[in-house]
Formats: sequence, structure tokens, C-alpha cells
Amino acid sequence: MTKISQKAFGMTPDKKDIVLFTLWNGGGMKVEIINIGAAVVSLTVPDKDKRPTDVALGFSSGKEYVTNKPYFGAVVGRFANRIKNGEFKLDGKTYRLEKNDGNHHLHGGNGGYAKKPWDYSINADNTLTFALASPDGDEGYPGDLKIRVTYELKDDNSLTLRYEAETKSKTICNLTNHCYFNLNGCGSQTTVLNHIMRINADEITDADAELIPTGKFTGVSGTPFDFRSEKAIGKDISGDNPLIKAAGGYDHNYVLNPGAPFAARVYSPETGIVMEVETDRPGMQFYTGNFLDGSVTGKNGIRHEKQSGFCLETQFYPDTPNRPEFPSCVITPDKPLKTFTTYKFSVR
Ligand code: GLA
Repeated sequence: MTKISQKAFGMTPDKKDIVLFTLWNGGGMKVEIINIGAAVVSLTVPDKDKRPTDVALGFSSGKEYVTNKPYFGAVVGRFANRIKNGEFKLDGKTYRLEKNDGNHHLHGGNGGYAKKPWDYSINADNTLTFALASPDGDEGYPGDLKIRVTYELKDDNSLTLRYEAETKSKTICNLTNHCYFNLNGCGSQTTVLNHIMRINADEITDADAELIPTGKFTGVSGTPFDFRSEKAIGKDISGDNPLIKAAGGYDHNYVLNPGAPFAARVYSPETGIVMEVETDRPGMQFYTGNFLDGSVTGKNGIRHEKQSGFCLETQFYPDTPNRPEFPSCVITPDKPLKTFTTYKFSVR
């Protein structure tokens, strides 16, 4: 049976309360979540010797989540991932967004959901809901939106995020969680290159050097992107593949095989910790923390170096608003967004 407690965790520069929630279950798992960005701060699971191991990268103080450059643990929106040239058309009207990633728009802009204080409530069934109002024109996006993200920790050591978004008029929406995992332990000061990965995807969306989809789909067969059988993350990461070279590692959207039992399964041979990801989303950005460069100091004073965490950002494909051939991210008052992602932990 899951229990939840809450405590004050500092204040934002504009004097809003920062609150840290702790969820415990009967399976030896503990999750800390903060109202800024509805972000996961820590995720402690038993390793193969039952040692509690925190597998999520995060900060030690609340106020660091207000800037959170790498998006540690945060819920990202209104549109997770990139929108080409920072603009898109909806019903013939062009909307211009902040270009915060070179010439492109990334993760909803610098004022996006990841850095905002969310409202919160602990529910009678011991789940935790964060809510955010995103008015018409917020960061340039149309449509008055209400978002809810509910975290549910179960005794089987699964953590489920249920995302809901309701709008007053037609708009676009793509929400994800940007947790960085290191199954060796976030304090291990290791990279994730030893992790054994499986991804149930036959294709990725092909991308240019700025990680914008070209509209083509590339089969993973015979490429470093093939994780259909278990393979170490580091095995093909330093080869000559131009896509991997441009991104400095993996930072690509997988087209998830529909109907597969899970999207991805990752395993650390060091701790024996296994994480399985299940989702109803069509895509998943597999990112190996290539932009971490030691300049960000996380919990316990650890400087996070390149590839010391990986993200599995379940989502619509990047640049979907400009790609009518991709599964649509348009929502309407009659068709709200309702989606889930589950992270399930076990040991091998
Ligand atoms: C996503 C992107 C990366 C990077 C990170 C945040 O994973 O695909 O390129 O921007 O977010 O650092």
C-alpha cells in the first residue's frame, strides 16, 4: 500500500512554495516528486542485493528546478521535443514560438511547463495529481488548456504517469517526462554505456543534423539504432553513423511497434536493476545525455558528465505539427489528450 508525505522544499525566486512529495510502497521503492515541473527528484529501487539504489538524476535543492537546464525528471510541454523553425500552422493560421534550440523550438520554450510551479493534490487512492493551467497564447501556443499529470506508485514497483489535457479550442499538445535514469545508481559516477537495452521499434524517424525529422522513416536493421535484441547502449555509439555523430550519441525518435508488450527494457549488469517502459504513445526519444558536460551538479554534489544518464521520452514524433503524415497531436474540446507511461522496476 502506497503512502505519501509532503514537506516544504524552499521557494521560487517569485516566492511561490516549493513542495517535495515522497511516495513509498510495499515493494521497497521510494519516489520523490516536486511541484516545479511535476518533476521526479529521486527514484529509489532495491538492487539485486536489496540495496536501495537511486536511479534518477536530480538536484538537491528545490530552487534548482526553476532553471533545470537539462530538464531533470520534469514533465515537458506544451510540445515536447522540437518544432522546426519555431513555427507551425493550425487551420491556416501560423503560430510563432520561441527559438530556444538554434533555429528551432524545443520542449515548449524556456517558459515551458518543466519550470513552472504546478498545483497539487494527494488523492484518496494514494495517487498524486499535479495540475497546470496553460492559457491561450502561453509561450505562443493557441488554446486555453488544463493539464493534469497523476503519479501512481504500486506495490509491484511500477510508477505510472497519466497525462490529461483538456482544451477550450483546437490546439496541439505533446507531453512527456524527461527523467534521466542511471541504473548503476545516479551516484555511481558512471556512464550508462554498460546498460543493456532493448527497444521494440523497427524504425526511427530520420532526422537532419539539427535533429529535425526529414519525413522519411529509417529501418533500424543493420544500423546502430537496432535494439530489437538486447545490446549494450555503448556498443555502436561511437561508430561512423552520421546521425549518431551529429547528435553525439543517441538522441532519436523511435517509431514504437504497436502491440509490443513493452516499448523498452533496460538492465544494468552492475546492480541487476531492470526497468521496463510501457506506453500508448507512438514514439519515444532515446537520448543518452549527450549534452551533459560536467557543468551541472546534481544530488550529493555529483557532476553529471556526458552520457551519465539516459532518457526514454515517450511522445508524439518530433515536429509533428508540421508533418501531417505523422500521428496527429491535435486536440479539441471533444477530443482531449489522455495518455499514460509506466516504468516498472525489477531485478535480474
Ligand atoms: C531532449 C532532446 C535533446 C536535449 C534534451 C535536453 O532529449 O532531444 O536533444 O535537448 O532533451 O537537454
